[in-house]
Amino acid sequence: RVLIVDFGSQVTQLIARRLRESGVYCEIHPYDKVEGMLDAFAPKAVILSGGPASVHEAQSPSAPQRVFELGVPVLGICYGEMTLCAQLGGAVEGGQEREFGRAEILIERLSPLLQGLGDIGERETVWMSHGDKITAIPLGFEVVAASEGSPFAVIADEGRRFYGIQFHPEVAHTPRGALMLRNFTHKIAGLKGDWTMSAFRDEMVQKIRDQVGDGRVICGLSGGVDSSVAAVLLHEAIGDQLTCVFVDTGLLRHNEAEQVVTMFRDHYNIPLVHVDAADEFLGQLSGVSDPETKRKTIGRVFVEIFDREAAKVEGATFLAQGTLYPDVIESVSARGGPSAVIKSHHNVGGLPDYMKLKLVEPLRELFKDEVRALGVELGLPPAFVGRHPFPGPGLAIRIPGEVTPERVAVLQKADAIYLDEIRKAGLYDSIWQAFAVLLPVRTVGVMGDARTYDEVCALRAVTSTDGMTADFFEFPWEVLGRAATRIINEVKGINRVVYDVTSKPPGTIEWE
Ligand code: XMP
Repeated sequence: RVLIVDFGSQVTQLIARRLRESGVYCEIHPYDKVEGMLDAFAPKAVILSGGPASVHEAQSPSAPQRVFELGVPVLGICYGEMTLCAQLGGAVEGGQEREFGRAEILIERLSPLLQGLGDIGERETVWMSHGDKITAIPLGFEVVAASEGSPFAVIADEGRRFYGIQFHPEVAHTPRGALMLRNFTHKIAGLKGDWTMSAFRDEMVQKIRDQVGDGRVICGLSGGVDSSVAAVLLHEAIGDQLTCVFVDTGLLRHNEAEQVVTMFRDHYNIPLVHVDAADEFLGQLSGVSDPETKRKTIGRVFVEIFDREAAKVEGATFLAQGTLYPDVIESVSARGGPSAVIKSHHNVGGLPDYMKLKLVEPLRELFKDEVRALGVELGLPPAFVGRHPFPGPGLAIRIPGEVTPERVAVLQKADAIYLDEIRKAGLYDSIWQAFAVLLPVRTVGVMGDARTYDEVCALRAVTSTDGMTADFFEFPWEVLGRAATRIINEVKGINRVVYDVTSKPPGTIEWE
């Protein structure tokens, strides 16, 4: 396994993504927490990430010196190259300006790091970024590639297997960057790339058994991908020591609650408590139209109901959650930054700590698409694990104004037709998230000879890689046209359909 030392770059996670895509297990740890875990982790290679600091600032972050004494290969990227240089006896000057953008490097020397790329004298496109400037490389290092602006774009000490790269190999703008990282892990560090989902599954099943022993585990199922995959994995590990509690808010997509219940009970034979709490949620939401109050109400009611049901599971000592890796990485770039704030409103309530249950989080090492791959590995239908993200508060935040049972039913129908047309057009997997919104606005229409006065349905579809930014999806008109015609014809209560062409920012993906 590989240790990624995080110096706070916005793209550190992408290094981990690239490594895992090539079958190498890795973990990201903040630079100031590495010392304590180095021995236990025993990395086979170390990567120093980029970061916003300058090696010249007082107390500029550095890697524990021991990283260079482990006898394993070390790769410094961007800021990582700067600190590697500074720590090994080279010289680095503070640059006046940071430089970002496309650049070309010229290969000057052969190195296993660039194997499979060009020959000496050939050029390679990279995504450059530098603030500090190296003025002298440490003893033992040689220049492998240079660009106009960076004479030390790639440097290597082949003897000690230390490398520095000034640009970002982990981003898509460096077209063959993934190959460079792969060379580092496979060719230089000699890793086999045998970290697969099937290996992870076996490993995790064993870990769950070790942690849980003969204890009883409660797993909260939301109907979403993460908790479903976690539940199936847990069931494989501990069988009927697992009880799933599915709090059905009545605010899921059309038919989704039934699907979850059938799949878990009939297909997997997993003990499932299905709490049909639609009336309770809708009752509490009656009269509420402020978006944040809706979220808080749903969060509160959810915890109340979950507590009540969990207390009925006798002898439970563990609570399983579908926490993912992006939620647990203690990222240096997010310290005190805005990401922390954005997350908190997305969480639908936590569990009160008087529930003295120990946590089991079998997915906490995985990224979202790895969870999907694990789901398929465990036999979940690909269409089920490939579903678009769905917010915890569900359709309540897709019904601006008051949420009533009638309006939920109308929206579910419109949404199902929209998704059906998207699937038929083969576009579902090209879209990050697509959904319908029911607006509390009435407009006039004609149906046959009669005048109608019904509500407006807005359709939304966006592309995105992480939900933080998004572009509206450019549909072929006929797909939108078909969806609109069907919604107006088949859903009583809607007589007009509009398409949302707002990107994020300045808009958000959801309407509330
Ligand atoms: P926004 O609307 O903020 O959404 O652009 C970004 C992503 O987060 C999802 N989202 C939520 N998820 N609880 C959740 O679990 C929430 O309250 C919530 N609000 C938005 C949204 O669906 C999108 O994927």
